[in-house]
Amino acid sequence: MSTAIRVSSTANAKELRAKIEARTAKVGIIGMGYVGLPLALLFSEREFPVTGFDIDTKKVNSLNSGKSYIYRITETEIAAARQKSFSATADYSRAAEMDAIIICVPTPLDEYREPDLSYIRETAKAIAPHLSPGQLIILESTTYPGTTQEVLIPILEAGNSAGLTAAREGADSGRVFFVAFSPEREDPGNDTIARRDIPKVVGGLNPTSSDLAGALYHSIFNRIVPVSSPAAAEMTKLLENIYRCINIALVNELKMLCLRMGINIWEVIDAASTKPFGFHPFYPGPGLGGHCIPVDPYYLSWKAKEFDFQAKFIELAGEINTYMPYHVVNSVAAALNTHKKALNGSNILVLGLAYKKDIDDLRESPGLAILEELQQRGVKVCYNDPYFPTVGRGRKYNLHMTCTPLDNLAQYDCVLIVTDHSDYDYQRIVRESQLVVDTRNATRGIQSEKIVHC
Ligand SMILES: NC(=O)c1ccc[n+]([C@@H]2O[C@H](COP(=O)([O-])OP(=O)(O)OC[C@H]3O[C@@H](n4cnc5c(N)ncnc54)[C@H](O)[C@@H]3O)[C@@H](O)[C@H]2O)c1
Repeated sequence: MSTAIRVSSTANAKELRAKIEARTAKVGIIGMGYVGLPLALLFSEREFPVTGFDIDTKKVNSLNSGKSYIYRITETEIAAARQKSFSATADYSRAAEMDAIIICVPTPLDEYREPDLSYIRETAKAIAPHLSPGQLIILESTTYPGTTQEVLIPILEAGNSAGLTAAREGADSGRVFFVAFSPEREDPGNDTIARRDIPKVVGGLNPTSSDLAGALYHSIFNRIVPVSSPAAAEMTKLLENIYRCINIALVNELKMLCLRMGINIWEVIDAASTKPFGFHPFYPGPGLGGHCIPVDPYYLSWKAKEFDFQAKFIELAGEINTYMPYHVVNSVAAALNTHKKALNGSNILVLGLAYKKDIDDLRESPGLAILEELQQRGVKVCYNDPYFPTVGRGRKYNLHMTCTPLDNLAQYDCVLIVTDHSDYDYQRIVRESQLVVDTRNATRGIQSEKIVHC
């Protein structure tokens, strides 16, 4: 490799770094969803010229006309970003204009509960022809360790006719683009920590890529945590989510045992939480939901098989958490039984469908599995959730239901609390209902024989 070529790559990096410092670096964010849109707004707030890319033209049109489709993002925020030159597009050729591209596309499981990387592959194929030397490409989608190096980079390298390659240690030519992985760590609905105070983990393919990605994120996050490789950054995200998944499974299992033993698990967790070291509380519920915790652990257990390794904790936690919606329905049947009623033919109102309180996200929500199971067991079921006026068809369900007003609660044989939204008046709900089955301890502090915890 000639010195002249090596200087050229360094020059690329220096130029990009200068643009980042001057906030003139053009940032393209691919995937205008729950992760990509807030990220775009953060960069825009800090005066970066930002372009949002999405294949969903409805989202593109909404953003370009100043509308928001995510509950917690206001139109005022979109309007402010629009004034600062933020725009959205479905046209991938505009990727060529960007100095940095951050990929935030979905990483679901397929029908066999195996990683579905099709969105990452399609995105990589779409941007590859438009890559230019010195661009920084960052993957944020949660995925198994190795995706950036084994999936993303080969597609980017094969798909660009200019012969560009990813900048690697010891192969630092001028015809390179820089690559890093940096996981998203958002906690939807949690307002106690500002987004910029959440440390950002960054793993570049080589030190220059790490430095550039770190510099870009440092413009919007207060603390950058560099790790040695994209795979280490990918694994960091999975460790965090698997830790949650396994601990939630543990409390769910202990809850079922406590119910049998006549012990209140919530009281026990509160008491254990007073320990000033070595204990972090997790809370039981009707099952796992959201795009991350029910999905991400399987990315690792799938990858582990390639190394003849069984990730047993993940499988066991999955088994317990997947059972929880069925535990809820069985508990409702048992509660009705004490009222000399059968589940089949009963009238049940499900309160809350979102996968956690105070958010407008239904993905993988246990509420959907509970609705379906109740229907299959002959229940006349309806739901109320202020965040969802209707529930139609999703990847795994087909419900076609409309939100029922919270009137005349005495008409239901049972009111089942699945999501403990803060807007609900639980005193009133207990007072007016015949029977309340509470999966979240939402009725904490209310004394009534009508309440059954499950
Ligand atoms: N939502 C969260 O709280 C959260 C938290 C941490 C990590 N993540 C991870 O972030 C990633 C994105 O999640 P999300 O919640 O934002 O998903 P999302 O479904 O809300 O948004 C993804 C967006 O990508 C778009 N898209 C799909 N294919 C595309 C393509 N080829 N080109 C352009 N756009 C495309 C979709 O239309 C959609 O708007 C996932 O890997 C997820 O696991 C999500």
